[in-house]
Amino acid sequence: MNNFDYANPTRILFGKGRIADLAKVVPADARVLLLFGGGSIRNNGVLDEVHAALAGFTFHEFSGIEPNPSYENLMQAVELVRKEKIDFLLAVGGGSVIDGTKFIAAAANFDGEPWAILEKGGRNVTSALPFGAVLTLPATGSEMNNGGVVTRKSIKAKMSFMSKHCFPLFSILDPAKTFTLPTRQIGNGVVDAFAHVMEQYMTYPANAPVQDRFAEGILQTLIEEGPKALANPDDYDVRANIMWCATLALNGLIGAGVPQDWATHMVGHELTALYDLDHAQTLAIVMPSMLRVRKEGKRAKLLQYAARVWHLTDGDEDTRIEAAIAKTQEFFEQMGVKTRLSDYELNADAVEAVLAQLSAHKMTTLGERRDVTLEMSRQVLELSL
Ligand code: NZQ
Ligand code: ZN
Repeated sequence: MNNFDYANPTRILFGKGRIADLAKVVPADARVLLLFGGGSIRNNGVLDEVHAALAGFTFHEFSGIEPNPSYENLMQAVELVRKEKIDFLLAVGGGSVIDGTKFIAAAANFDGEPWAILEKGGRNVTSALPFGAVLTLPATGSEMNNGGVVTRKSIKAKMSFMSKHCFPLFSILDPAKTFTLPTRQIGNGVVDAFAHVMEQYMTYPANAPVQDRFAEGILQTLIEEGPKALANPDDYDVRANIMWCATLALNGLIGAGVPQDWATHMVGHELTALYDLDHAQTLAIVMPSMLRVRKEGKRAKLLQYAARVWHLTDGDEDTRIEAAIAKTQEFFEQMGVKTRLSDYELNADAVEAVLAQLSAHKMTTLGERRDVTLEMSRQVLELSL
């Protein structure tokens, strides 16, 4: 196993009714900015609960953070932060609101044009405002990690950043708040969490048996619980298990000390930036083909995955590997997330456009071995048509 530091300062408050505990974790004398999305929290009562919990606090609001949050919009919140001398941010929503809040937290303290944060992947962030989160959509893991993804619409660039200054101080996870999710977002969340585990697990053996077992446990739990959330959307226990899976999938635990891939995510981000596909839709399109094209480099782990996660032990190696990839693709489809470019009315033109953007963003040596060249990305995308 490689050397690694594992530090995660985010405090998790998990369970029914935990929003009421906001008053205990938001600093009492803070000037708070409440940040949220397009209105789901107004309709499902979450905003009322947050207001009740923050009675007596000084707070302002910024709404309208869109899915795949835009730099252009977030910079307006940065202005508000400066104008109102805000010193604490509270994100209430899904990954987009939490990511947007991380960016605002870093941009508010940043010297110079904050787009540079995305250009440098966050390496130039030296401080950020403190912030917490109330999660309403289990998917990204943003509630317990230090990464964010922001889109600059004017140039169709979707870029990510990470900084040790961008961990939430706390995150409130009340699974009951996920009951109002549309079916599409339930599926998206499960597929995104699944893909996060795969990006950290499906590489090559690295003498990391406990990370492997954790990863396989999360994958198996998502396979068991995901379809139940679609069939019985009012089942609290199912929602709770999915929520905890999504958090553990990307809080650094399973990725500590192991090689990581992320090529599927990088290609997927270009599809979202160009065609506005949901994040998880892009992963469902790219991942099965990515595994097929890179079968040789991932052979040992694909065989382990086939045996331990899908219980596929019969037949020769290539048969087991293909069966495991087919099962993965079927699972995404079962969760209601389509897996081909043509399902989203995209054709060979999209392949060329994505490759041009990958090249422009220097995404030309991706993956755990840095061997995913543009030519390999082309094979992947063509296989996904
Ligand atoms: O905007 P509102 O009205 O709140 O509606 C949202 C939005 O339309 C709705 N929603 C959220 N909670 C709800 C709800 N509707 C009903 N009931 C609820 N309880 O869901 C829609 C999608 O929300 P969004 O936050 O965009 O989804 P998600 O959590 O999947 O976040 C996606 C973003 O996260 C980034 C993605 O690239 C994308 O920009 N990611 C962030 C990562 C990270 N920080 O580590 C890693 C991921 O790989 C990913 O890249
Ligand atoms: Zn993701």
